[in-house]
Amino acid sequence: MLSGKHIILGISGGIAAYKSVVLLRLLIKAGAEVQVVITPNGKEFITPVTLSSLSGKPVISEFFTANTGQWNSHVDLGLWADAMVIAPATASTIAKMANGVADNMLITTYLSAKCPVFIAPAMDLDMMSHPSTQRNIELLQSYGNHIIEAREGELASHLVGKGRMEEPEEIVSIIENYFSKNTLLAGKHVLITAGPTIERIDPVRYISNFSTGKMGYSLAKAAAAQGATVTLISGPVNISVNNPAIKVVNVESASQMYDECMRVWPVCNVGIMTSAVADYKPAEPSTVKIKREGQDAPTLTLIKNPDIAAALGSCKNSEQILVGFALETDNAHENGIKKITSKNLDLVVINSLADPGAGFGTDTNKVTVVSAKGNETDIPLMTKDNVAAEIIKIISTYDKTE
Ligand code: CTP
Repeated sequence: MLSGKHIILGISGGIAAYKSVVLLRLLIKAGAEVQVVITPNGKEFITPVTLSSLSGKPVISEFFTANTGQWNSHVDLGLWADAMVIAPATASTIAKMANGVADNMLITTYLSAKCPVFIAPAMDLDMMSHPSTQRNIELLQSYGNHIIEAREGELASHLVGKGRMEEPEEIVSIIENYFSKNTLLAGKHVLITAGPTIERIDPVRYISNFSTGKMGYSLAKAAAAQGATVTLISGPVNISVNNPAIKVVNVESASQMYDECMRVWPVCNVGIMTSAVADYKPAEPSTVKIKREGQDAPTLTLIKNPDIAAALGSCKNSEQILVGFALETDNAHENGIKKITSKNLDLVVINSLADPGAGFGTDTNKVTVVSAKGNETDIPLMTKDNVAAEIIKIISTYDKTE
């Protein structure tokens, strides 16, 4: 599964480009988000309209989009991608990649890519066996690229020999295989709570807080991108997620969140509690709207909600890792660390509302992760998606037995 993976599909100008359509479909079916980058010659073989319809994104070919003048940043693309696959890679594209001839968008993107790059050569047998092509393929391999060997068979020239692009199904499984070996949470089940809970006073009023759920949803995506199956138990938020590896369970109140968490926790390897659970709820919510007319101001009696994190902490087994969040306004560090003991956490992620750019509703965050063993990691201000990726790295490499 390539769930949540960002993949650049580079297409150069060879007859095997027709197979790139099938490859694109399969990558998307496997859960990847795909950006197609095609060379000018590639467009002679396959139309951008077909590719953009399937990928749901405009196809990139030029350095500038003609009608808007917008610059297509190969640097941003290179950073966005978790993998780049060039299929088909013609002799000319292979030569340019090997020698840094950056005269089209596909090559500049390749040169900026920080991710693993898979190259599926396709060409006539004589071009393939030519010493210059062989030397360029060796060069690309020596730079750490993954060459997906061409096959023997009948070629477009009707000659028979080595030069057929590997079949799309096989290319996808090579990429999947790469990720399954390199993902940190492959085969793990992660429970995440997110968003606020709301506690009804009557059918039209409730108690809640300003949580938007962004951090929890970012963590769910980051865990899925590392191969985990995620159960995301979410209070009411305005975010949606469309990822086959993430099962969203919508709840409203703390009690409902507690019930869902207790149900799924026994089969989970990791629990990450980001929800801003309302600590109290009305003792006796009214089933009818409380009227103002003819009444004195009512007194609201509150009772405590269950502490979900503490409940999971009290029944966790020796292998389960439980992570809590502590959003504090003052003495953030000291108050955060206390939660490790009071809730039997393995890790606590502390953030302070006093830090600009951190906390509820922002797109960024700045946190400190403290372990039960006393190790601390500061994650500087960055987008919640990037903070989430860093937190997932810490969780997945945490060894509680050490
Ligand atoms: N938490 C929970 N259930 C609750 C309250 C909190 O699961 N009823 C979890 C939160 O999701 C978070 C951690 O416990 O991971 C700490 O939450 P926080 O609101 O900071 O702590 P409280 O226990 O409510 O303590 P206080 O409000 O007094 O700081």
